[in-house]
Amino acid sequence: MSYPTQVRLIDVGPRDGLQNEKQPVPAAIKVELVQRLQEAGLKEIEVTSFVSPKWVPQMADNAEVMAGIARRADVRYSVLTPNMKGLEAALLCKPDEIVVFGAASEAFSQKNINCSIAESIERFAPVVEAALAAGIAVRGAMSCTVGCPYEGDIAPEQVAYLAGLMKGIGVQRVDVADTIGVGTPLAVRRAIEATLQHYDIDHISGHFHDTYGQALSNTLAAVSMGVWNFQSSVAGLGGCPYAKGATGNVATEDVVFMLNGMGIDTGIALDKLIDAGQFICEHLGRPNGSRVARAALAKRSA
Ligand code: HMG
Ligand code: MG
Repeated sequence: MSYPTQVRLIDVGPRDGLQNEKQPVPAAIKVELVQRLQEAGLKEIEVTSFVSPKWVPQMADNAEVMAGIARRADVRYSVLTPNMKGLEAALLCKPDEIVVFGAASEAFSQKNINCSIAESIERFAPVVEAALAAGIAVRGAMSCTVGCPYEGDIAPEQVAYLAGLMKGIGVQRVDVADTIGVGTPLAVRRAIEATLQHYDIDHISGHFHDTYGQALSNTLAAVSMGVWNFQSSVAGLGGCPYAKGATGNVATEDVVFMLNGMGIDTGIALDKLIDAGQFICEHLGRPNGSRVARAALAKRSA
């Protein structure tokens, strides 16, 4: 088994982490969260979504947040764009990468973006083309690659089908997402193997929600296959509004702690990351979802 020597973490806390918050989180708080994440050493941050504010009200301040962040040349800022309307608004904010998001499950595609998988690809195609023409990188998120809240288990063939469609329209790299956190290491492995039919290992990232407490194990399973890009969420914030009961992504702090222990470099300063997580948890008035952060904070205060 050979592990990568470096892992790139994409913190999705400002987007996936906050999109489901019922109380509006002020743009200034989101901007400060992004600032703290980059100060902790994150080199990729998923900042916001250019989606319908009727569907996801929390992301309605997308342009304000993008305008507020103090950009660094060595940090990649990504945003979600489901259609041309989203892309047109996003382009004004000059993201480094846009993310189109589809699903391996028909039912989830309908619930999340109100169209079939085939229709989603038709919508994404001009978005991808226009983004690439504008010199912006394109990532594709693939939801429900192991399980769906409406359809149950998802076969690897469905993942391979979606990955092939994403590749066909020019999506440069894809996220293998376990939206509802039901995946276990072998199921996640099969979803990644299916994706490998169309993308090489350098262009596949893991995106594991921790609903059933499996996300760190799934991360390790993916790392052991050579995957070295992951989305994670500071303090384990989050959930998807169209996947009831789904909790946040694996906590960035927990992934960093595990990788540090394995001698795998992330370039992230764990103490500063923990401070960033505490900052947002205090604002939201909720306990920190990272086990590592809780342990480190208890040790600090002892
Ligand atoms: P629709 O209703 O089919 O869209 O929604 P439409 O084209 O018929 O337009 C309806 C209205 O929305 C119109 O406004 C449009 O202008 C407006 P109205 O005339 O009624 O006033 N509209 C928009 N407004 C702002 N920005 C836009 C936009 N598009 C249309 N881009 C749509 C289709 C895709 C827009 C909708 O379903 C939507 O916004 N869905 C977003 C769902 C979402 O954000 N989910 C969470 C993110 S995905 C996720 O969390 C999973 C991930 O983490 C991976 C994983 O864990 O699985 C990535
Ligand atoms: Mg997600």
